[in-house]
Amino acid sequence: MCRTIKTAYCILNTLARMKSFEKLLQNNKNWASDRIKNDPGFFNRLVNLQMPEFLWIGCSDSRVPANEITGTNPGEIFVHRNISNLVIQNDLNLLSVLQYAVEVLHVKHIIVCGHYGCGGIKAAMDNISMGDLDKWLVNIKDVYNLNKSEVDAIENEEERLNRMVELNAKHQLLNLAKTTIIQKAWKHNKMPHLHAWAYSLSDGVLRTVFDMPPGSPIDKIYEFDNL
Ligand code: CO
Repeated sequence: MCRTIKTAYCILNTLARMKSFEKLLQNNKNWASDRIKNDPGFFNRLVNLQMPEFLWIGCSDSRVPANEITGTNPGEIFVHRNISNLVIQNDLNLLSVLQYAVEVLHVKHIIVCGHYGCGGIKAAMDNISMGDLDKWLVNIKDVYNLNKSEVDAIENEEERLNRMVELNAKHQLLNLAKTTIIQKAWKHNKMPHLHAWAYSLSDGVLRTVFDMPPGSPIDKIYEFDNL
């Protein structure tokens, strides 16, 4: 009897768990058929060509989906996401996305998008070890260190973290400009335009934080003269 109840509970439990991902598959079927209803050529066009104008480097946070918050469709934004939208010079994943976006897709704009209420920023500003994640978050601690006097002068904790979100997005944009990929593209193609934005979870609005048009000056030590 006991075993029967346990088995029944187990089946119910499995069904409950399956339901959440099965719902995604069902939603997808509905979405695909709606798309075709409204625009019969939609998928055919996407199959044949990818020509996004934008590369989005955003946080992995599930509340900041690039397409939805910018009102764009599949095919319009090339996307890379990681914890706290970092641009690390030896991150092969990011560099591969960046090179493909710039040299093959010829994107015109790159957006580094941070968001207020970012857990990665909050964790980095703390002194609690998170295991392997520390090695990633140390890059945010470095951003803080570079801007210590400005950040420490903000008394309110939430405002201090909000400012760190903005400074981090700006710093990651500067990191982009340090790569040979961006410097080469600026020199030879006068593209892409770099944008640092911050997204507010509370009102859904994007704000411009920092902007680097092609050819923007960078610290001399990071410039390559032979590209
Ligand atoms: Co985040």
